[in-house]
Amino acid sequence: MSNPIDHSTYNYDVVRKFAVMTVVWGVVGMLVGVIIAAQLAWPSIMYTDLPWLTFGRLRPLHTNAVIFAFGGSALFSTSYFIVQRTCHTNLFAPGLAKLTFWGWQLVILSAAITLPMGYTSSKEYAELEWPIDILITLVWVCYGIVFFGTIVKRKTSHIYVANWFFGAFIITVAVLHIFNNLEIPVAPFKSYSIYGGAIDAMMQWWYGHNAVGFFLTAGFLGIMYYFVPKQAERPVYSYRLSIVHFWALIATYIWAGPHHLHYTALPNWTQTLGMVMSLILLAPSWGGMINGVMTLSGAWHKLRTDPILKFLVVSLSFYGMSTFEGPMMAIKTVNALSHYTDWTIGHVHSGALGWVAMVSIGAMYHLIPIMYGRKFGEMYSIRLINIHFWLATIGTVLYIASMWVNGIMQGLMWRAFNDDGTLTYSFVESVEASYPGYMIRAIGGVLFLTGMLIMAYNLWKTMRADVPSAATLTEQSA
Ligand code: HEM
Ligand code: HEM
Repeated sequence: MSNPIDHSTYNYDVVRKFAVMTVVWGVVGMLVGVIIAAQLAWPSIMYTDLPWLTFGRLRPLHTNAVIFAFGGSALFSTSYFIVQRTCHTNLFAPGLAKLTFWGWQLVILSAAITLPMGYTSSKEYAELEWPIDILITLVWVCYGIVFFGTIVKRKTSHIYVANWFFGAFIITVAVLHIFNNLEIPVAPFKSYSIYGGAIDAMMQWWYGHNAVGFFLTAGFLGIMYYFVPKQAERPVYSYRLSIVHFWALIATYIWAGPHHLHYTALPNWTQTLGMVMSLILLAPSWGGMINGVMTLSGAWHKLRTDPILKFLVVSLSFYGMSTFEGPMMAIKTVNALSHYTDWTIGHVHSGALGWVAMVSIGAMYHLIPIMYGRKFGEMYSIRLINIHFWLATIGTVLYIASMWVNGIMQGLMWRAFNDDGTLTYSFVESVEASYPGYMIRAIGGVLFLTGMLIMAYNLWKTMRADVPSAATLTEQSA
């Protein structure tokens, strides 16, 4: 991946803008996460007559902010960066690229206004109403044109594997978004899905699961395949495995959606198909995880001094953990216990904080100095990156461990029977027993958020050129 052409010809403006917004939206989205975590631990904490501040309105604000604003900006930024560097050419249609930046920010702003106001199509992760759906489609088409246009005008014969993952992410998300949001508008901010009953549910979870598979996984694997080798200064462990990983992953993910609808009105065979495909998904997921981790062969010593590499490696470990846990939860008998409990929430954040957020943070720390014309790893403070790493890791562990304990406890309490057939516990007893877990989760969230604030400060100082003159990654952290 050595780069023979002049970097100054690359279009870094849009990459830089999205990178800055990744940090900004990360702070905002996680702040809302901490607020709703606090509301679950202490329900009266935000008590007011204002409906905007209720859990039901803030929860979708959190999910949209972290997935689409934080995760989306990270994906735009890194994909525009990687496609230029690996294709040895600048972005196709720079005007359109700029439009994707402002268009995406407009989508986020519209979400931030309409969701607290209670406008929602009530489909999880696709709550936004139809005018915003149309805007998303337009921005996405521009994104596709810029990305694939750049691939077409590349100066290399080969298309590097990270671009395959980004390409699959862009195409699949377009298809998912369009089909799940086919709806009949009845007012400026009200619409009804064209699907009914079980078919609507099936469409929603085909979308929902592949939002995980393609938005929260394929795109971030693209990030992993570029930044792990770059940061470790080693080639990908097995390039052949990365190609097998790509095809196996995308061919399998698309079938696994029904595991979200076990024991529902969905035909039984579709539930079983979803379960089986989820179990198969373990293989490509772990193939990719092992390929990433093994890329560090011969470079493990770098972990002592390089906190950016620590972020990337730990993200791979959480990727491995969540993609082991997911297939287990897809087994119907396991799902009978886990569904409706906090175990699902623990699984979500093992993927979301441990994998998605950590790999994005690692990539941003690699990318931001380059965006500001500095040397490799030349942030304002490497020590602060190290502190951020530990806050993020401890925060994630507290979050997911407390939710596992809560989830398994809730599942077991709900299914406990007395000899005479009555329930051993009332529902409220399980809520009371969950309180310590909710407190620990909130503490974990505060730690993770504090790390993000430190990152924002470090970024701000780096942007303002407050970087100690000759400090490099190793010198600062030594
Ligand atoms: C400081 C960090 C974070 C905190 C404190 C936090 C907290 C929360 C809370 C309290 C919920 C609601 C749980 C419930 O309804 O029982 C939630 C849901 C969710 N969060 Fe986070 N979150 C954080 C970061 C993230 C990130 C970075 C992502 C994604 C990249 C994410 C994705 C989600 C998703 C997808 C859900 C919905 C889960 C479901 O419906 O099963 N969160 N979060
Ligand atoms: C092999 C990979 C994976 C499989 C087979 C899998 C499977 C599952 C299963 C069975 C559930 C519970 C469904 C339910 O009971 O309602 C679930 C929920 C979820 N998973 Fe995964 N998972 C995988 C990886 C991941 C990763 C890497 C992430 C995040 C980056 C993730 C994010 C989520 C989210 C957000 C939900 C909650 C959806 C909701 O109910 O709102 N999953 N997953």
